[in-house]
Amino acid sequence: MSLIMEPDFGTPKSKSKESVTVEIDGKSVVVPADTSIMRAAAECGVDIPKLCATDRLKAFGSCRLCVVEIDGRKGTPSSCTAPVTDGMKISTRSEKLDRLRQGVMELYLSDHPENCEVGDACQVHGVAKKVGLTDICRFGFALTHTSGFWKSSSLSSVNTIANCCSSTATPFNILTQYSRSW
Ligand code: FES
Repeated sequence: MSLIMEPDFGTPKSKSKESVTVEIDGKSVVVPADTSIMRAAAECGVDIPKLCATDRLKAFGSCRLCVVEIDGRKGTPSSCTAPVTDGMKISTRSEKLDRLRQGVMELYLSDHPENCEVGDACQVHGVAKKVGLTDICRFGFALTHTSGFWKSSSLSSVNTIANCCSSTATPFNILTQYSRSW
């Protein structure tokens, strides 16, 4: 029996009847108004790194891996919580974004085992590779998920889920809704 992974668009579908046209990494896409940048990107085949977003939950912008740049706007908003507006031009890749994502990812890896039980299916390590981090981690790796924060936390009941770090976004969604300290 094989597991069929359905595509995850990152945020739920917008119910708006209005349409807007946006450009993401040079690709034009028409989506309903109020669609998140992340979802619009996924609909035109652009994959933005994410750990806390899934199309099964309202976005809450916790992991900060999905940052993007928007023409004419300052800052780097999270694409899962920022809605598209008509004519918006968005970049999902740049040196600045790579640097930001790698910095955030290094902090997450410092609280994650280097060789976790899940191996190649580990979502954390998968995203680390996606943002360009392989075996480099300035802050070291956690020995186990039950050390430090996890051990002293009221989240011990969900340690089993954390240890799993499956290839779906679900474990991180559960954990990040309890605390941003992971
Ligand atoms: S996926 Fe957007 S903040 Fe986590």
